Amino acid sequence: MEIKGHAAIVTGGGSGLGAETARFLRSRGAKVALLDLDADAASEVAQEIGGIAFACNVSDAKSVEEVVAEAKEKNGPARICINCAGIAPAKRVVGRDGPMPLDDFRQVVNVNLIGTFNVIRIAAADMAAVEPVNESGERGVIVCTASIAAFEGQIGQAAYSASKGGIVSMTLPIAREFARVGVRVVTIAPGLMGTPMMLGFSKEVQDSLAAQVPFPSRLGRPDEYAGLVGQIIENAMLNGSVIRLDGAIRMQPK
Ligand SMILES: NC(=O)c1ccc[n+]([C@@H]2O[C@H](COP(=O)([O-])OP(=O)(O)OC[C@H]3O[C@@H](n4cnc5c(N)ncnc54)[C@H](O)[C@@H]3O)[C@@H](O)[C@H]2O)c1
Repeated sequence: MEIKGHAAIVTGGGSGLGAETARFLRSRGAKVALLDLDADAASEVAQEIGGIAFACNVSDAKSVEEVVAEAKEKNGPARICINCAGIAPAKRVVGRDGPMPLDDFRQVVNVNLIGTFNVIRIAAADMAAVEPVNESGERGVIVCTASIAAFEGQIGQAAYSASKGGIVSMTLPIAREFARVGVRVVTIAPGLMGTPMMLGFSKEVQDSLAAQVPFPSRLGRPDEYAGLVGQIIENAMLNGSVIRLDGAIRMQPK
């Protein structure tokens, strides 16, 4: 499917991978709506690129229903839906202070997994209702963001890995269900990417992480993620898969 002229929703659009993807999609002629818990950050990116921004909690049914409807009013129904909103707190199952509070686990699954599902169900309902854009019957594309922690979670990543593993596992059944309406679903599993989520660590930690990446031995760049999103949208055979974007790193236990 072409990018140009279509409406796009990007969650987590106020920062990191989402912000860069929003910039990329806009530069390719999409009408971009940024959804983020951090409304100021999303507005700043929207202003920069000529998009629209909405304060939104992806894990809240009503919040997403409302902003997707508002975005539809302004840009038309989105044929492109990019899920980047996420959180990555680390905590041991049993730490120095005792067992991990159950609510900590719940919160990560709630934002990363349930939030992604929530956005998909609402965006896909709109996509299914519009006419196909081309002869092959394509109506839209959904991209989700998992993590290599879905496969090689480190100590402290039980909640994060579980949430990202859920995204990996739901990719195929949702792609199979949406095949009937010409909507593709693809998940990207990034490795170590240079975004605010990662750049919060000290330079020493960043360098040591980068050194673990076989080739190229550095953190991934957000524009490399955004470029893959572009390829997924444009390449109609990409569907139902999880694509690692990781320079061949396989994370160690810690
Ligand atoms: N940076 C990495 O190395 C890396 C690696 C693997 C996977 N990922 C995944 O990529 C995605 C983007 O990460 P990033 O590095 O750009 O992080 P980031 O922290 O820079 O951006 C995440 C954005 O999501 C927003 N957000 C958080 N909770 C939200 C909610 N409930 N509703 C709406 N928005 C919410 C934040 O406000 C923020 O703007 C995340 O899902 C993350 O787990 C990142």
